Amino acid sequence: MIKKCLFPVAGYGTRFLPATKSMPKEMLPIVNKPLVQYGVEESLEAGLNEIGFVTGRGKRAIADHFDVSYELEHQIAGTSKEEYLSSIRSVMARGSFSFTRQSEMRGLGDAILNGKRLIGDEPFGVVLSDDLCVSDGDTPGVLAQMVSLYRQFRCSIVAIQEVPEDQISKFGVIAGSQIKADLVQVSNMVEKPDPKDAPSNLAVIGRYILTPDIFDILEKTPPGKNGEIQLTDALLTQAQTGCVLAYKFKGRRFDCGSVEGFVEATNYVYHNIYKG
Ligand code: UTP
Repeated sequence: MIKKCLFPVAGYGTRFLPATKSMPKEMLPIVNKPLVQYGVEESLEAGLNEIGFVTGRGKRAIADHFDVSYELEHQIAGTSKEEYLSSIRSVMARGSFSFTRQSEMRGLGDAILNGKRLIGDEPFGVVLSDDLCVSDGDTPGVLAQMVSLYRQFRCSIVAIQEVPEDQISKFGVIAGSQIKADLVQVSNMVEKPDPKDAPSNLAVIGRYILTPDIFDILEKTPPGKNGEIQLTDALLTQAQTGCVLAYKFKGRRFDCGSVEGFVEATNYVYHNIYKG
């Protein structure tokens, strides 16, 4: 089944400058954990233990976070402070971590294509860790929900949510035929449309299950919106030649790549998870 999950983390994070000038945005903390750790925990929960990062220049802190810090371990060994490391130790024990680099920021589609050698010829998950997803109570995480669906349908799946009209131009937007209340078979997909051209109010968020034929499609996908290789364009090709499903996930998503979303997520996690 699905074992691997790709984390494209090469972006510049310009919306968070100057905080992200020398620090990757994926290392910004929501309360006491960096964003990327939440994403990796969601992936492990879904059974995707082989984690691949597509990094870029200035992202070394991410690799260091998932490695042992000997000085720190030595310093706090046997003290009560060890408990602060328990969550990252558990992540490191359960996952394996590989890294590849995207040398030029040519878009999300290009970042995923750079992960081809880490993934090989098997279906895989993708997490954009600046989208923080949380689900309530006993509901599994968003990626785990999508893995269950993959078992049933065996095709690429994107997570979607309804967004207000004034937000639509920030997303990839889908349209298609409804299969179930929470499932749409995609027939159209547009990256960051003008609200007047948007095919619906169903926006794609940063969780995907992709079948490996996406790599061949990405290789043939020309630059699209903003001159970048767009995953949205490749997924539209896949939808037209095969099958792509869009899933209205259960849970909440925070856009932690924006200051407003980051503050909302911080408040939510502090009150509902950290204190909770
Ligand atoms: P964003 O659109 O959020 O871009 O990328 P960004 O550079 O990270 O942030 P802003 O908009 O400048 O503030 C969506 C995801 O795709 C990755 C980013 O790391 C992020 O997880 N990405 C994007 C790449 O890995 N490579 C790219 O060339 C572009």
